[in-house]
Amino acid sequence: MNEVMMKLFAQEVKEGLSQSPKRLSSKWFYDKKGDELFVKIMGLPEYYLTKCEEEIFEQKTESLISSLIEGVEDFDLLELGAGDGTKTMHLLSALRDQVFTYRPIDISSNAIKTLEERVSKELPDVKVEGLQGEYFEVLSKIKSDKPKVILFMGSNIGNMLDERANDFLLELSAAMNKGDRLLLGVDLIKDESIILPAYNDSLGITAEFNLNLLDRINRELGGNFNRRFFKHTPRYDKQKGVAYSYITSLADQDVRIDALDQSFHFNEGDRVFTEVSRKYDDKALETITNHTSLVLKNKIFDSKEYFCDAIYFKE
Ligand code: AVJ
Repeated sequence: MNEVMMKLFAQEVKEGLSQSPKRLSSKWFYDKKGDELFVKIMGLPEYYLTKCEEEIFEQKTESLISSLIEGVEDFDLLELGAGDGTKTMHLLSALRDQVFTYRPIDISSNAIKTLEERVSKELPDVKVEGLQGEYFEVLSKIKSDKPKVILFMGSNIGNMLDERANDFLLELSAAMNKGDRLLLGVDLIKDESIILPAYNDSLGITAEFNLNLLDRINRELGGNFNRRFFKHTPRYDKQKGVAYSYITSLADQDVRIDALDQSFHFNEGDRVFTEVSRKYDDKALETITNHTSLVLKNKIFDSKEYFCDAIYFKE
């Protein structure tokens, strides 16, 4: 992390642990260890999200393509958050005969590099040009008047509660021109017996992923969190359709963080709120683009109808 990010991390930890209830943002999950753990999560039997969206990209490629690129020629295919590209490769392969440039956008230059190499190797005919930076910063700098097809997959929008997601889509919509397309991958509201295990797997990888945040604070900010006195405790609110992750203190304890020159008290049972994972239904898919000029045109589901890739047109 650069110095600016380090400062922001320290400041957010200080503010978040001073609040009641305490909170830490899930955006800090993804250090090297966190990235590795998330890759493991995607392979877990309980974590159906990745498998379902992959099935859509593998088996519904034609429907995806026809709604995404019908009537557009020589377009920029922008992907927000590059990932490892497994799902996108199916799409790129099916788009081989089209004229387009694939532009993955990611905050991590390493992720971009790896993806560029993978595409050049596996699909040498696809023009690829990775862009490193924050989504909107990069979008505002793109000097191309080509039609845009934007991918925001993997239920990444789920980490935002509705108000923030709506602001995000408002900003995204403002960066789009009439006729541009957006594919939004969302997890669907369903029974707790399916959702909760996805966030509380039997191997404890998700617990590891959540608690890695405490290790990260220890490593990068000189904290002395003792992992044995904290537990990963996820919850699913069926009414709201939101999964929440918490870290619960198993004892009365004080934790010192050297970089903040401060200690924080935890009562037994205190919860640190770390993540939301919003699940969608028809109504949420329609209302999330309120006040934007994005219109829902098509929904593509996996065979179990657990996951949905929704396609919006900018009007
Ligand atoms: C990367 C935000 C889609 O919320 O399902 C996985 C992150 N957290 N297990 C999700 C996550 C715990 C994931 N997203």
